[in-house]
Amino acid sequence: MKVTFSAPGKITIFGEHAVVYGRPAIVGSIDKRIYVTMERRNDNCIKILAEDLSFKGLSIKIGDRIEVEANDRILEALKYIVKAIEIASEYINEKSGMNISISSEMPVGAGLGTSAAITVATLAAYSYILGHELSLNEIAKLGHTVELTVQGIASPMDTTISTFGGLIYLMPNVGFEQLSLNNELDLILGHVKRDESTAKMVKKVREIKERNEKIIEMIMSSIGAIAEEGKWAIIKGDVEKLGLLMNINHGLLESLGVSTKLINDMVYASRNVGAIGAKLTGAGGGGCIIALCPGRKKEVSLAIKLVGGNPMDFKLSMEGLKRHNTQLL
Ligand code: MEV
Repeated sequence: MKVTFSAPGKITIFGEHAVVYGRPAIVGSIDKRIYVTMERRNDNCIKILAEDLSFKGLSIKIGDRIEVEANDRILEALKYIVKAIEIASEYINEKSGMNISISSEMPVGAGLGTSAAITVATLAAYSYILGHELSLNEIAKLGHTVELTVQGIASPMDTTISTFGGLIYLMPNVGFEQLSLNNELDLILGHVKRDESTAKMVKKVREIKERNEKIIEMIMSSIGAIAEEGKWAIIKGDVEKLGLLMNINHGLLESLGVSTKLINDMVYASRNVGAIGAKLTGAGGGGCIIALCPGRKKEVSLAIKLVGGNPMDFKLSMEGLKRHNTQLL
């Protein structure tokens, strides 16, 4: 049997990092996805092939020591796959070797939630092929456990959006609500290389917070307040307000030390040519920005290019985790 599951990437419109400390966030799934295909093997070997993530293709055995020579980015993505298989095996109380192939429509490890997408698609495909069709709630919960185990600290934001899809207002420890947009938002992504992992950036913020508890708590609360106001701006269709809130949110992320010169260059270049809001999206240390630019997508794309970034056109898409073809071999 061979099955493919896909899960979407995401943009965080408001609230990254503060969501780790219980503040609300607004996050939307996008029309760029990760595809995980699995085929059951007769042995206990997990073979992973992901050429477009620049994996060379490697074999590991469940339960054995894993010895891989690869660059950091590949190892980072691998950790999520291995942990997802381990946690799914425990949950369904079954395990088997698999051939796994992975492909991505977006840059991996760039702040677009690719680790969460790989995690939830792996959990779903592995358990499905072993005869267990887990509910979305089960997958989101297990996905969060995987991220927590790999990263040490993680909110449920990325795994929730990648599983359910949509545009959600998330309140950690409470739940989430789906928001709807009256009109499509004109958004552009700008991408630059990212050297730091999400885990490292989250730890960096924790360290700053531990050394400056009172000040950083106030920044986290302000980011939470932005997400709350942002929710009303979305409900009312107040695009100007959304843009302003994105700019304020970026300033606060900058004060947490998670932005970089190149990220700031893309943010300012976008604003200079008419974006009404632009901010870092994701954990930072490089990665991606989003620019809200009604009627100015071309100009903003060019401006991002001119400062050395890669512009990417994309749309918010409501689709979460999805099963594609199932082949009985
Ligand atoms: C990463 O996409 C978002 C962070 O807030 C981490 C998390 O929520 O787990 C930086």
